[in-house]
Order: sequence, then C-alpha cells, then structure tokens
Amino acid sequence: MKKINIAIDGPSAAGKSSIAKILAERLGYVHLDTGAMYRCTAYKALQKGIDLSDEAALVRMLQETKIDLTPSGNVFLDGKEVSHAIRADEVSMAASKVASLAGVRRELVARQQKMAEAGGFIMDGRDIGTVVLPEAELKIFMTATPHARALRRLRQNQEEAISESDLATVEKEIEERDYQDTHRKSSPLKKAEDAIVLDTSDLTIQETADAILNLAEPFLKEEHA
Ligand code: DC
Repeated sequence: MKKINIAIDGPSAAGKSSIAKILAERLGYVHLDTGAMYRCTAYKALQKGIDLSDEAALVRMLQETKIDLTPSGNVFLDGKEVSHAIRADEVSMAASKVASLAGVRRELVARQQKMAEAGGFIMDGRDIGTVVLPEAELKIFMTATPHARALRRLRQNQEEAISESDLATVEKEIEERDYQDTHRKSSPLKKAEDAIVLDTSDLTIQETADAILNLAEPFLKEEHA
C-alpha cells in the first residue's frame, strides 16, 4: 500500500504550514515544511557573514550543512534547534533572497525529493507541485489576499513574540516577498497546471483543512483499495 503525496504551494502566510500540520496529523502523514530549509540556509549564511548573493559560497556551505525537520515540526540546523530563530523578519527576507539562486534550490530540492520517495508526505512550499513533486497525487495552490495574510502573520508574530512590526509593515513585507518569489528566474512561485486553487481569505483553518481532506478522499480510497 503506497501512500500518496500532497503538494501545497502558495505565497507567504497563506496558511500552508498550519494546514499541512493538521492534515499530517489527521492522515498519519509526515509534514515537510520546505520553507524552513531555505530559512535555515539564510540563517546560517547570516551567522557566517556569507554574502546572500554569492551562489557558489552558499552551495559550498550547504554541502556541509545538516538540516533536520522532525515530524512534530521542530527544525535542527547542524544539530542545534533553530525552530524559533529562523522565523525572525530578517531571516524571512534573507530566505527569499537565497531561494532565488538556482544552485541553492538544486541542493535543497534534491534533499526534498529523496525524503518524499516513500510517499506519505504533505510538502508545503513554492515549487512543490511544479518542480519537487510534479507527480504528487494532489496539488493545492493556496492563496489569500495580502491583507488577510498580513493579519494572520501579525497574530502569529504577537503570539510567538517574534517581532513587533505593525500591520502596515507586515503587509508591505509580504508584498515585497511575493514580488521576489514570483519574479525570480529560478522556479518562481506559480500554480502547477493541475493544481487546485484554494482561496483561504475567508476560510478558517479548520474549513481549509476539511476542504483539502475532501479533495484527498478519492486518492485515499484508492490507497486502501
Ligand atoms: O514558506 P516560508 O515563508 O517559510 O518560505 C521562506 C522563503 O523560502 C520564501 O521567501 C520562499 C522560499 N521558498 C521557496 O522558494 N521554495 C520553497 N519550496 C519554499 C520556500
């Protein structure tokens, strides 16, 4: 019985990670937050003072970098827990920069594809349906207006005491990252042709998770057939 893979792509703060986590729990699948891998790359580069546009240096750095994502959502970089540290605003902007480099993407995509070989993964990111898992049985493209996303990110920042930026600043940063992520040359954020678009602006987390579970049902039935 081979488990299916579910790809969830979309812009920042559309709710991908929260939803993927719920789905993974409900289905007994593993959630893989690929954004955390780009964030780890950026975090380590910032710490080491590596120029964020020096592709060769970043690739060399990655070849000696261990990134572990635990099923419960913790992130370990070279054995050290960085789950919280990689969510800082400075790291978000830097992650978007390093994610535009083809060499960095090649390194991380290869790791992601290897991890998902066994099936049973819910992977969220920007290029999962288009590049990482083009064969995924179910592909979701999750969107929400920049305003709705900024409100969510602000709430999350406050709950986790990550940053004290105001709504206007958070919204502006989200729009900047959207621009960077959709206009880069290497694997820009775009909907896979066969992905299903889900606008979550007016949906709760639970409603969104239920909508995806409904879409996944036919595939899950086949899995048990
Ligand atoms: O999902 P996130 O906000 O944690 O992602 C951090 C950055 O990494 C974001 O700017 C987009 C980039 N990213 C990417 O290019 N490809 C992925 N598969 C995941 C994230």
